[in-house]
Amino acid sequence: MNDPLKMEGLAEGPILRAEKLSKAYPLPDGGRLKIFEGIDFQLKPGELVAIMGVSGVGKTTFLNIVGGLDRPSEGRVFLFGQDLAAKTPEEVALLRNRHIGFVFQFYHLLPEFSALENVAIPLLIGGKNREEAMELAYRALEEVGIRHRSGARPAELSGGEQQRVAVARALVTRPVLLLADEPTGNLDWKTGEMIINLIVEIHRKRGLSSIIATHNEKIARFCHKVYLLEAGQMKLFEVLTG
Ligand SMILES: Nc1ncnc2c1ncn2[C@@H]1O[C@H](COP(=O)(O)OP(=O)(O)OP(=O)(O)O)[C@@H](O)[C@H]1O
Ligand SMILES: [Mg+2]
Repeated sequence: MNDPLKMEGLAEGPILRAEKLSKAYPLPDGGRLKIFEGIDFQLKPGELVAIMGVSGVGKTTFLNIVGGLDRPSEGRVFLFGQDLAAKTPEEVALLRNRHIGFVFQFYHLLPEFSALENVAIPLLIGGKNREEAMELAYRALEEVGIRHRSGARPAELSGGEQQRVAVARALVTRPVLLLADEPTGNLDWKTGEMIINLIVEIHRKRGLSSIIATHNEKIARFCHKVYLLEAGQMKLFEVLTG
């Protein structure tokens, strides 16, 4: 299989490794609000895992840190064997653009651009020329089943359609790691299930490594492993087979 990490000479081993990860925010009274502390976590190649936990427990914070969008207060994140703390913000941004796809609860599409342009943006940022970016974006929209809506702006699309566009945008760069934060949190169950099925299908087909943060136990059932983030700790809650 075409392995972009090997081609770039990045280390083998876990796709993602977090070591003694802690996050705390300063409080106005001079104290600190601890979100989590001392989390060790690994994501192996090909794994599809769910992180569950009640609202406010730190799921988004955790995903943002392991995806290089935020920094931990303590501990280290190794993405593809590389220590994020040893990199400049520009290097981390490059690693993200090349190898990580993000899907968010509220889609985060740019309202003034068409579906096609939204999907093409990560490619344009990554330096592809416009023609090639549009062609690849079009194919990604085809893969998620909404090629026919490629000219529509986000406001003209349903929530489920917007999330399909967001999935296409996350995957258009052919990332190795997919991080999805409540990808169905804003959708009715049936539409949400369609989105999860789509993510699981693409995960399998492309041999991705994926983390889905969710409140929803039914969604977690689609994953290989379920972690529970609770009281500042991450615990392996369930290993599902088949
Ligand atoms: N910039 C910040 N400053 C202070 N506290 C913050 C900041 N960002 C997040 N928090 C707090 O960190 C905690 C974890 O937030 P986070 O968004 O990671 O939770 P979550 O598990 O994703 O919740 P939800 O399920 O509602 O999305 C919350 O208590 C939140 O209020
Ligand atoms: Mg969240």
